[in-house]
Amino acid sequence: MGELTDRVAIITGGARGIGRAIGQALSRLGAFVVLADRDVARAAGTAAEIGSSAVAIETDIGRPASVSALFTEVEQRFGRLDVLVNNAAICRMVPILDISVEEWDATMAVNLRGTYLTSVAAFRIMQRQGHGRIINLASAAAKIGGVAAGAHYSASKAGVICLTKSFALTGAPLHINVNAVCPGPTSTEMTDAWGEATNRMFAERIPWQEYARPEDVADAVAFLATDRARYITGEILDVNGGLVMD
Ligand SMILES: NC(=O)c1ccc[n+]([C@@H]2O[C@H](COP(=O)([O-])OP(=O)(O)OC[C@H]3O[C@@H](n4cnc5c(N)ncnc54)[C@H](O)[C@@H]3O)[C@@H](O)[C@H]2O)c1
Repeated sequence: MGELTDRVAIITGGARGIGRAIGQALSRLGAFVVLADRDVARAAGTAAEIGSSAVAIETDIGRPASVSALFTEVEQRFGRLDVLVNNAAICRMVPILDISVEEWDATMAVNLRGTYLTSVAAFRIMQRQGHGRIINLASAAAKIGGVAAGAHYSASKAGVICLTKSFALTGAPLHINVNAVCPGPTSTEMTDAWGEATNRMFAERIPWQEYARPEDVADAVAFLATDRARYITGEILDVNGGLVMD
């Protein structure tokens, strides 16, 4: 029996990178995982890799109707939701003085509003159940400002930290835990896009001297999903090789 046997988990952005590693980690603990990603072909491939305890559902968390459809489908298929991992995000490298209104709004619509909408939908189910876990992916950029990541991205992730605390306050009496994991730079396609020279420069600034692996972040998320984290809520857990200590 795994620690998450019979539990159902949604992982947004579960097709690749950190989300894929989270899907694998939760499924190893026995959970049934729903990979909710706008790249449904890639998510289906990841679900197939995981096996019969995973399914892909096409979802764009930037579109409220798509978020509603995801939660309706999960309720109809499984009748429960134990864990929501808000992992989907977009991160575009735009210099601070050049962020257009459209670019600003697109980033906030996915990273911050999307996280809010999925959390509300999950809360409605978890409230009825009397338990649930929500784990948000924030970022070290929320604490130190966005250089490569962009000011709009880092602001959206600072918003995610605050949202985590607000939902944690509302969730505590209902026994719904809401926490965030705050990764430093992690080797995924998101950071591959920054190019080798930039990644080398950032890696040298990390006391650990290398980027996190997706599995490092996934293990922290998996811990927060288990009953061992029963009394932890409103926590922002750094996984950053010593980059930020606060
Ligand atoms: N990689 C890093 O260095 C790093 C550092 C700190 C925080 N994070 C955070 O960790 C999370 C995962 O990052 P990653 O590096 O694996 O990213 P990634 O870009 O490799 O993967 C993101 C996934 O989210 C999906 N996605 C994007 N927009 C979506 C939307 N609107 N609806 C549904 N799915 C959507 C993509 O299709 C993709 O599968 C993100 O929240 C990111 O901000 C990453």
